[in-house]
Amino acid sequence: KRFNVAIVGATGAVGETMLAILAERQFPIGQLHVLASERSAGDTLEFGARKLTVRDVATFDPTGVDIALFSAGGGVSKEYAPKFAAAGAVVIDNSSAFRYEDDVPLVVAEVNPEAMRDRPRGIIANPNCSTMQMMVALGPIHRRYGITRINVATYQSVSGAGRSGMEELGRQTAAMLSFQELEPKKFAAQIAFNLIPQIDEFLDNGYTKEEMKLVWETRKILGDDTIQVNPTAVRVPVFYGHSEAVHLETREKVTALQARELLAASPGVEVVDDPASGLWPTPVTHAAGTDPVYVGRIREDISHPNGLDLWIVADNIRKGAALNAVQLAECLVAEHA
Ligand code: A2P
Repeated sequence: KRFNVAIVGATGAVGETMLAILAERQFPIGQLHVLASERSAGDTLEFGARKLTVRDVATFDPTGVDIALFSAGGGVSKEYAPKFAAAGAVVIDNSSAFRYEDDVPLVVAEVNPEAMRDRPRGIIANPNCSTMQMMVALGPIHRRYGITRINVATYQSVSGAGRSGMEELGRQTAAMLSFQELEPKKFAAQIAFNLIPQIDEFLDNGYTKEEMKLVWETRKILGDDTIQVNPTAVRVPVFYGHSEAVHLETREKVTALQARELLAASPGVEVVDDPASGLWPTPVTHAAGTDPVYVGRIREDISHPNGLDLWIVADNIRKGAALNAVQLAECLVAEHA
């Protein structure tokens, strides 16, 4: 069987990577519809040897679409995802629009794929990029040793803010190197040669929404509301790849050696951890353009008897968004096998 697929937000940073990954993994595609706003309607996108014309989602008839991958922002998902689902498509939504609703599963392909079978609204949510890579590494540790608390600081690349985020870092960096200045537009402060300790809006508790996504989504994906999560999310001048310094506490003691062995055998994880030869993962040398979640700096926390420290790096556009969405689509295909 072949599946008719629609990509909503196909011209964006995540959308174009969804297209590339569908082609790479030889997804069994029948018709493929690439949709965006009226701004880019009429543009062409390449899919293998095929040329596809972008159409406006607002005037597109979803009848006959089997699987719709949405990555055009929360507003677009809220308005159009239910329409695609009503027309019979299963929607895999990369926005945060439905992630926290009880009747919408939130799924990381390697961690809780069984959750996607129960989808009464025909919508499956793709987690936030920072939560995604953390779950691929922490899911197996939680299952074996029981995680009680997570302290995490993120170092998030500008591609997480879309194409315009990458353009701002590029232009601002070039300007500064020729002794000019460019006013920030996309980010709240200069991002070139700087760090910004705010992603998304502030909430009443003093955390940002990006930080609270790590709290809410971790609990939902691991199915455990008792896990304590204390995040700080920071934007850094890196194009592709999010990094995370994670300090976790477990019910049962886990040694660095046990953690290394468990992670090395876990799906989607690649351990890059050899302090003796100065080996650890970075966004540029390991993650950008690749699929695994890389884990290094694995060590026992000298400040806590049941503490473990990890450094987790992954391509936020691939595993953090487009790749997981395509993996969930592959699970839908498997349901028909
Ligand atoms: P468009 O090219 O028409 O603006 P990014 O995250 O890289 O900024 O990409 C956002 C994606 O979401 C783009 O494909 C963009 O399409 C799409 N998009 C943004 N707003 C809308 C909208 N109102 N309707 C449909 N697609 C939208």
